[in-house]
Amino acid sequence: MKRILVTGGLGYIGSHSVVELQQSGYDVVIVDNLSNSRRDVIDNIEAVTSVRPAFEEVDCTDMAAMQAVFDKYEGIQAIIHFAASKAVGESVQKPLLYYRNNIVSMLNLLELMPRYGVKGLVFSSSCTVYGEPDVLPVTEDAPIKPATSPYGNTKQINEEIIRDFVKVTEGVSAIMLRYFNPIGAHPSALLGELPNGVPQNLVPYITQTAIGIRKELSVFGDDYDTPDGSCIRDYINVVDLAKAHVVAIDRILAGKQDERVEVFNIGTGRGLSVLELVDLFQKATGVKLNYKIVGRREGDIEKVWADPRKANEVLGWKATTPVDETLLSAWRWQEKLREKGIQ
Ligand code: UFG
Repeated sequence: MKRILVTGGLGYIGSHSVVELQQSGYDVVIVDNLSNSRRDVIDNIEAVTSVRPAFEEVDCTDMAAMQAVFDKYEGIQAIIHFAASKAVGESVQKPLLYYRNNIVSMLNLLELMPRYGVKGLVFSSSCTVYGEPDVLPVTEDAPIKPATSPYGNTKQINEEIIRDFVKVTEGVSAIMLRYFNPIGAHPSALLGELPNGVPQNLVPYITQTAIGIRKELSVFGDDYDTPDGSCIRDYINVVDLAKAHVVAIDRILAGKQDERVEVFNIGTGRGLSVLELVDLFQKATGVKLNYKIVGRREGDIEKVWADPRKANEVLGWKATTPVDETLLSAWRWQEKLREKGIQ
């Protein structure tokens, strides 16, 4: 069985990806420092897959502890690196925390790869690297724009570090996946997003409002240059996104890459506005949502959606889940959290 190290494997995207990896026959070792995740996610992964993944509570910035993980679990063939701090606003307030967590983790993993014969890396990048794109839909060749937050900057810097390192390191290759906006939850309602405090992202805010934890959703701006004036994003189902990681790992381990560093947009190719998403949520769930229009949120991109053709054609991956099904899955997850008394 091929052994894969998944950092941040108890987080939102990480946990869904562990499920897909296990269901595709991979042997998964998770490292996670539990800074933005819960230990009982392992039980839920086991409930879905009937396999309990190996887990080490380790911070990826701790080189000695990471080395001990590679010593303990021999034969790790590839790494998927999810572990990172990811709140845009917090990154502006605490830049050094973001640079330390996100950059030092990456450096440690890259240093360990050739030492332990690890062939491949899949890196969680973001469409944030495109900033406000000049051409839509956005392709992988679109220019990288100056980052508007330390968080975004860590994604750009890590992409560059990976390129520089792979260029001079034989036997190591990488795939960087630029995610658009991941939403939804596992259809089992056993896994999903667990926002820390007041959600900053749209869909958790919607589901928490719908269930009565929040009074109303604030829609940030209706005066953008878009058909209904609200911002447009490409919302990608989290299970579809998780599957992209499995095909990326398959591709690396099968030696099928065209170049030793490849980059793919992971999105649906469809842009939806905030107001459209609110409407779709109400229709999919039959739940009425309180919302009001407020002023713009600083730093928001007006419109961005993916051209996912490279991922479709080269990676052989495509988003397939309809958005109403995805929104319903997010709602079921929110209901499950209430049942469990978590939120
Ligand atoms: N929005 C609201 N009200 C809210 C929350 C969000 O109207 O309460 C709007 C935003 O203004 C934006 C859209 O919903 O137009 C999506 O906002 P999110 O915060 O969910 O997502 P972003 O596109 O702003 O950010 C996401 C990730 C970042 C990543 C970025 C890349 O959260 O980590 O995409 O573009 F950097």
